[in-house]
Amino acid sequence: MMQKLTSLTSDLKLSNGVTIPGLGYGTYQTPPEDAYRAVTDALAVGYRHIDTAALYGNESGVGQAVKDSGLKREEVFITSKLWNTERGYDKTMAAFEKTLAELGTDYLDLYLIHWPANEKQFGQEAAALNLDTWRAFEDLYKAGKIKAIGVSNFMPNHLEALLAQAEIKPMVNQIEVHPGWPQTEAIRYCQRNDILVEAWAPLGEAAALSNPVLAKIAAKYDHTPAQVCLRWEIQQGILPLPKSVHRERMAENTKLFDFELTEDEMDIIGALRNLGGNARCQIR
Ligand SMILES: NC(=O)c1ccc[n+]([C@@H]2O[C@H](COP(=O)([O-])OP(=O)(O)OC[C@H]3O[C@@H](n4cnc5c(N)ncnc54)[C@H](OP(=O)(O)O)[C@@H]3O)[C@@H](O)[C@H]2O)c1
Repeated sequence: MMQKLTSLTSDLKLSNGVTIPGLGYGTYQTPPEDAYRAVTDALAVGYRHIDTAALYGNESGVGQAVKDSGLKREEVFITSKLWNTERGYDKTMAAFEKTLAELGTDYLDLYLIHWPANEKQFGQEAAALNLDTWRAFEDLYKAGKIKAIGVSNFMPNHLEALLAQAEIKPMVNQIEVHPGWPQTEAIRYCQRNDILVEAWAPLGEAAALSNPVLAKIAAKYDHTPAQVCLRWEIQQGILPLPKSVHRERMAENTKLFDFELTEDEMDIIGALRNLGGNARCQIR
């Protein structure tokens, strides 16, 4: 059954039983010097799930903000990601230790393969390389160093190859989802396979927010286009990861639980195209 978030503090359950706060806070393009302040604000606003990555160069600011927040480590769900240059078993193991050191923690809640090795770059070797990386993820998971493991930007073809060989199934796939880029097939595939979908760029990197259809629906509920985007994702059982460095926007992006889009509105938003977002997730 599709899980749906009912409040900022309610959790979703992953296939291994681990709970995950159903709204996350994104940190892509938050420079290292701003990450500490931004994550401190996000935790004060009420977020309990922070999404970072080795690529973002801000893991140490994120980790320090969590430490100084007064919250216990287990009260904050931290995700990081393995960057593309570190694929393969041994390099993954080393990159994971570096991520832990940067964050100043001894475990991760969720670790993701940031992008799949794909056939365009790696030819017939792509699937084997993804599997080799995944073996390291499985071993780190079995050693108790990560509570849940997953992937990012994997399309159904990448997942199919991984699932055929994996001992432990990925619990999460983080992909680009927003009005204008609905990723219907990838979402359906993941939900059928009990893989939770997280939405990156859930606001279409702000490009979706000036769309008149979204503006009209937002006005009807006395909410904002950003809140309508996030609500549209939550109502599909997707976990959005909005990013803002502005505290008032961080707060705005959490006020999602006092209105419900109709099925017609869900379809109208789902059929929007070309909102000027990135749609970068097109590798095959
Ligand atoms: N796995 C991957 O490959 C991948 C790729 C990209 C992103 N991600 C993750 O997903 C997170 C979200 O994606 P994203 O940061 O690319 O895009 P996003 O969350 O869709 O949009 C962020 C942009 O929207 C603005 N914004 C936020 N809330 C707003 C509001 N209420 N009203 C108006 N503007 C608002 C932000 O500006 P201000 O900050 O100036 O407020 C920023 O420019 C990232 O931070 C990262 O953690 C993952």
